[in-house]
Amino acid sequence: MFSIETYTKRQQELLSQVNSGIILLPGNEESPMNYTDNQYRFRQDSTFLYFFGLNRPGLISLLDTNKGEVTIYGDDFTVEDFVWMGKQATVRDQAALCGVEKTGSINDLVNRLRQATKSKEAIHFLPQYRHHNILKLMKFTERNAQEIENGASAELIKAVVAQRNYKTEEELVEIEKGIDTTVEMHVAAIKMLKPGMSELELVVKIEKMARAAGGDISFPTIATINGQTLHNHYHGNTVKEGQLFLLDCGAETPMGYAGDLSSTFPVSKTFSSLQKDIYSLVLKSHYACVDNLKPGHTFKDVHRAACLSIADGLKGMGLMKGDTESAVDAGAHALFFPCGTGHMMGLDIHDMENLGEEYVGYNGKPKSTQFGLKSLRLARELEPGFVLTIEPGIYFIPELTDQWRAENKFKEFLNYDEIDKFRNFGGIRNEEDYLITTDGKRLLGNKEKPMRIEEIEDLRK
Ligand code: GLY
Repeated sequence: MFSIETYTKRQQELLSQVNSGIILLPGNEESPMNYTDNQYRFRQDSTFLYFFGLNRPGLISLLDTNKGEVTIYGDDFTVEDFVWMGKQATVRDQAALCGVEKTGSINDLVNRLRQATKSKEAIHFLPQYRHHNILKLMKFTERNAQEIENGASAELIKAVVAQRNYKTEEELVEIEKGIDTTVEMHVAAIKMLKPGMSELELVVKIEKMARAAGGDISFPTIATINGQTLHNHYHGNTVKEGQLFLLDCGAETPMGYAGDLSSTFPVSKTFSSLQKDIYSLVLKSHYACVDNLKPGHTFKDVHRAACLSIADGLKGMGLMKGDTESAVDAGAHALFFPCGTGHMMGLDIHDMENLGEEYVGYNGKPKSTQFGLKSLRLARELEPGFVLTIEPGIYFIPELTDQWRAENKFKEFLNYDEIDKFRNFGGIRNEEDYLITTDGKRLLGNKEKPMRIEEIEDLRK
């Protein structure tokens, strides 16, 4: 955990940013896998972690903006629980670790909320993503499911985003620990992959490294010869000479901060000449993004720099044609790059995505509905303290190509006969994590992930 002062300061800032009423921030419960007592790894809610740092199930915090008071509610474990779990700290002792002096039982919380409902105090809560917390809020606040689904407080969301968007020095230290472990996972993978190995074998070996660092993986590992499938979680293939391998994985630190990096490397010792050509285009688009990272620039423009670079490169190879800007404006490049260039990162790999991209990535501005651009998670003006990923890629998705070709879609910009030659190529993406500084950006991590073709081939020797 951070110091008591860190959590107290965050709680007081939140209290000062919400005008009236009470704020309810539930922590998470255990999640059963196949019966109640057989559970997935416990993952605390990230906003709860941010304000309280307590990694224990069953807690709910209430911040009273009128009294300026913070209370943590939860039921103490009993001696019968200790028989199975060992001795556990009381809620009071745990709350003291994050500077909260007032505690109560869940029953006390129910009574407090009844009183709030009676006196018509506003009850602010965030969008909920776990069913147990939806049910709790329904029960405790006497609202129905729809009222919970539609009733999240925009004022509270904005207040939380306004704090969590700006990473402090102590958070950056944590984030860089996550990134350093993630770099080690990538370097190990690039060194160890051999023809005949299964995707799963590699996944097991690198995920072990995230656990050995004291935390866990920060999201389900993508490790595949089918890199054209953006979030490919299938690990059943055996890799063969000549194929490309795409790895997108990350480690989460014990305090919950994430690393998120991607690499693409050959299963053979070297890239083929065609693989080198496409890889070089991806790398060029990557650095076109990096060059544009500075306060005042919008991430939408960073994304556009990637799209233009990719479209221009593919035009040079005869896969696209026509005016590059017009092709990108129309969205033709999205055949190869159907997703966004990056996202915020912190306690979540897609930081605060549960609070709504319109608040986190768009600052209240509307999102595009155009294919490709609609998947851009971050578009807003960049500010010092933001931590984000850069991950443009080129993907050859046969199903999408066949559909667009049958529809004659963007035939003025796309050379389908040439594109068809790449139907078994796969996909390429690299990814790094950056901090926006007052005058530009800083690549995060104390160890650099190899990106250049010679660096990758050196590790493959
Ligand atoms: N790195 C996985 C993702 O951004 O969803």
